[in-house]
Amino acid sequence: MTQLETGYDHDSPDTLHGLAYVAFQELATRIAHRNTGRYSDDPVADRIMIRIAADENLHMVFYRDILSAALEIEPSAAVQAIVDEVLAFKMPGAGIPGFIRKAARIAEAGIYDLRVHRDDVLMPILKHWRIFELSGLDAAAEAARRRLAEHLDMLEVAARKFEARIAGSTAARIARAG
Ligand SMILES: [Fe+2]
Repeated sequence: MTQLETGYDHDSPDTLHGLAYVAFQELATRIAHRNTGRYSDDPVADRIMIRIAADENLHMVFYRDILSAALEIEPSAAVQAIVDEVLAFKMPGAGIPGFIRKAARIAEAGIYDLRVHRDDVLMPILKHWRIFELSGLDAAAEAARRRLAEHLDMLEVAARKFEARIAGSTAARIARAG
């Protein structure tokens, strides 16, 4: 109720940024909804989530393809918008009370975590756009692209740390149970 009453405003500086954000966000929701269905261990809930995830995929394709066109028309501006949105990315629902704690539990359940975010959301879309193969960018877009590469490296390190922590706590649980 709090989330719905507060509403949501991405306050993008422009349309390009808004479109770049939703390209990633729609894929993130597709994967999170699909994994939520699986996690529910309930065949009806699972089928509902499969249906919703299929819609989210269509949303993603729509926005991703608009960005593909933007990359052809205004590559430097499009790259900058994409990088800004990757660096500032927040899942929808970030305004829910206790979101950080909830996001941690969602990650521990394997529904959505840094590994999924990096490897299954950011990378497939960035590869589709061939971001790291584009040429003829202006200096600002080149600098943005370097920041993007650093950010992806940082996410890789953070994802490995998280995986090590989860593996450690699982081992501790098994040891306690034994
Ligand atoms: Fe959607």
